[in-house]
Order: sequence, then structure tokens, then C-alpha cells
Amino acid sequence: MNFKTKYNQWVELVNTELDHLVRESELPQGSIFKAMRYSLMAGGKRLRPVLALAVNEMFGGDEKWVLPFGCAVEMIHTYSLIHDDLPAMDNDDYRRGMLTNHKVYGEALAILAGDALLNYAFEVMSEHILKENKRMVSGVRAMNLIARSSGVFGMIGGQVVDLESEGKVISLETLRHMHKCKTGALIKAPILAAAVINQVSEEEYQCLEIYAEKIGLAFQVKDDILDVEGDSEILGKPVGSDENNSKSTFVSIYGLKESKKMLEELIQEAITEIERFGERSGFLKELALYIMDRSN
Ligand code: IPE
Ligand code: IPE
Ligand code: MG
Ligand code: MG
Ligand code: MG
Repeated sequence: MNFKTKYNQWVELVNTELDHLVRESELPQGSIFKAMRYSLMAGGKRLRPVLALAVNEMFGGDEKWVLPFGCAVEMIHTYSLIHDDLPAMDNDDYRRGMLTNHKVYGEALAILAGDALLNYAFEVMSEHILKENKRMVSGVRAMNLIARSSGVFGMIGGQVVDLESEGKVISLETLRHMHKCKTGALIKAPILAAAVINQVSEEEYQCLEIYAEKIGLAFQVKDDILDVEGDSEILGKPVGSDENNSKSTFVSIYGLKESKKMLEELIQEAITEIERFGERSGFLKELALYIMDRSN
């Protein structure tokens, strides 16, 4: 099966599961479920759960067992997008081809919808883990990894550096740290969570960790490039947001040409690393190339 077909199959699986997990409700607080679903079901590439499923398949794991972890990361990711778009942060009006959550539901409910998705992710994972004694320890380890990647040592930490770097010239070291945290961490998390669940060897884990770090950083370098030369119709979000907010990005600091070169190097290094798995690495190799060549 070719890469795109396989990717789309997993997207379908994830969408069905997310749709099932977050339902509308007749409760008095019904509006929160609507606001959560509005952003969660608005599309999106579903890269993070696809990564969990791909790594899981590489080790012959049980798809049903890894799926809730992948969906939980997607909920956390969606919450990060809702908050990232708020007026107090990047102040953007479009996301996933639709008006941003706060534009439709107002800031207060958008903040709560983000909070709710974050909280619900951990409800989903913990309920899932509690179902099977045998897999409890690896399940908790995977959940812990996801928690850490989302928090002050991961996505939230990176967002803080992002905000505090506006209008400043920062070092390559700080820039890389910021990108690795704000975006890299939530790309690495599903890869390593699937690795932990499949109880891979120390050597295999390290290999996946290097691959994950490279594509995680590359993903945000490409995001910075697309913010300059992308097409907002295809992206489903505005271009020029970084410049409007005087953000420090790979492009603002190194220019387009150098950023593209760094992107290519990162992808090449990721591919070299994952090739250690031989034939089994086919999908993840293509996925690295997709991250470089994507237009949305
Ligand atoms: C956008 O992430 C925000 C970043 C971390 C760069 P994606 O490009 O994965 O957004 P969706 O999920 O496809 O909408
Ligand atoms: C966002 O980086 C990273 C997150 C943690 C959401 P950006 O602010 O560049 O993401 P986009 O371009 O708005 O998707
Ligand atoms: Mg931002
Ligand atoms: Mg943004
Ligand atoms: Mg961006």
C-alpha cells in the first residue's frame, strides 16, 4: 500500500475514534462539547496519532491499544492550537480552514474548550489503562511521557519562550530549544509512547528518539517557512502571522534559503536514523519527506 493511502486510512481511524470519544451532550454545559468538537473535528493532518500508529505497526503492536494514546495527544495538540490562536497569544482568526474557536464561541468558552480537551485527554488515557492490569505499567509510562511533553518541559515551556522572544534576536540554541519544546515535544511524544507500549529495546528507543527529535524540529522549521511562503487557502490558517507578531522564527533569523537548507539536513538525518530499522522503516521514511514537502 502506498504512503498516502496508508496515511489516510489511519486518519479515518483516528477521526472515527475522536468522533466517538467527544460527543455532544444534552447537559446544561452542552456548549463546551460543541466548542471542543468544533476545533477537534475541523480536520487537521492528524500527524501525531498517525505517528503513534505507524511506530506501533513497526513493532507489530495492537492497534486498538495504542489508538487512545494517539487520540489523547491529538486532543492536547488541538487545545494548544485553540489557546495559541487567542488574542492574548498569536491573535489569529483562522485555523483548519475555519474561524478560530474564540471567534465563534468567544474567548471565555475557547479557553475552557482548550482546558477541557487537555483534561479529557488524561481521562481517556487513564480510563483506558485501567482496563488492563497486564499493560498498566507501560500504559502509565506512556501517559507520563505525554504529560511531560505537554507541560513546562515541553509544549507549554516552548510557548513561553516563543512569547518572550517576540521582537528579539535570539541565539540558534534558544531558537532550537523553543521549537523542540513548543512543537517537537508533542511530535516526539506519540512516537515514544508507542515505543514504550511495545516495550522496544533501549537501542531501538534511542534510535526512535533521535528520529523524533529531528522530524519534530523540522516540522516547526517548515511551519515557519509556510508562514512566509505558504498559501493560506491550503494551510487553512493565515500566512504572515509570525511577522505580524514580530516572532523569532527560523525564517526571521536565518532567511528562507538557509532555513530550507537546515530543513533538508534535518530530514536527511532523520531518514538515516530510521533506516536502521531496515524494511520496516518505509512509512516513517516517507513521512519524514512528507514533513519537508508538505504545503499544509
Ligand atoms: C500546527 O500543527 C501547529 C504547530 C505545532 C506547528 P499542525 O500543522 O500539525 O496542525 P494541524 O493539526 O494539521 O491542524
Ligand atoms: C505553535 O507554533 C505551536 C503550538 C504549540 C501551538 P505556531 O504559533 O507557529 O503555530 P501556528 O502557525 O499558529 O499553527
Ligand atoms: Mg504561536
Ligand atoms: Mg500560532
Ligand atoms: Mg506557525
